[in-house]
Amino acid sequence: MRMTTTPRAQGATVWLTGLPSAGKTTIARLLGDRLKTEGHRVEVLDGDEIRRFLSAGLGFSRADRNTNVQRIGLVSEVLARNGVLSVVPLIAPHADSREAVRKRHEASATPYVEVHVATPVEVCSARDVKGLYARQATGRLTGLTGVDDPYEPPVDPSLVVRTQLQTPQESAAAVYAVLAERGLV
Ligand SMILES: Nc1ncnc2c1ncn2[C@@H]1O[C@H](COP(=O)(O)OP(=O)(O)OP(=O)(O)O)[C@@H](O)[C@H]1O
Ligand SMILES: [Mg+2]
Repeated sequence: MRMTTTPRAQGATVWLTGLPSAGKTTIARLLGDRLKTEGHRVEVLDGDEIRRFLSAGLGFSRADRNTNVQRIGLVSEVLARNGVLSVVPLIAPHADSREAVRKRHEASATPYVEVHVATPVEVCSARDVKGLYARQATGRLTGLTGVDDPYEPPVDPSLVVRTQLQTPQESAAAVYAVLAERGLV
């Protein structure tokens, strides 16, 4: 009997980095839904959800944030290497942490698409989806990325999304277009 094999779908990691309330989760969900509807295998690894299990116990120090990014980066690379489109909405404020994730993907020749959700801090703080900016302003929270904790913007991202000028649907479509350009969808 002759064995036949079906070619495995090409996976990728799509990493959405940006400030709190920038729009990462919103874009990731819209993109994920569209990709699923089109029949792709998709996972959305949202920073908030992962902090409840894989990274339970980690805080927001530089070291803990890096550990969180490396763990999610590892999971995402494994998924992507095995044909999943893995969408990661995570602040990931430090350039060296993101660079390590990129290198991990390069080492296994797994596509890695970095998207900077570059919403200005004034817009993020007006949105304040989780009330973090308000809590920081009234002294109930310290170490808020972009306010009193650093955010190092990507130097050479695959895409910069300016959500203050777009609808969420337009932003998600812009990310989708990059995947299409690269032959990943
Ligand atoms: N073009 C856009 N793209 C994405 N979100 C947008 C856009 N325009 C307005 N928004 C709004 O901005 C808010 C973004 O919230 P969201 O939870 O996605 O941010 P986040 O980057 O995931 O924040 P956090 O890091 O705190 O999880 C939502 O209320 C969303 O509706
Ligand atoms: Mg989010």
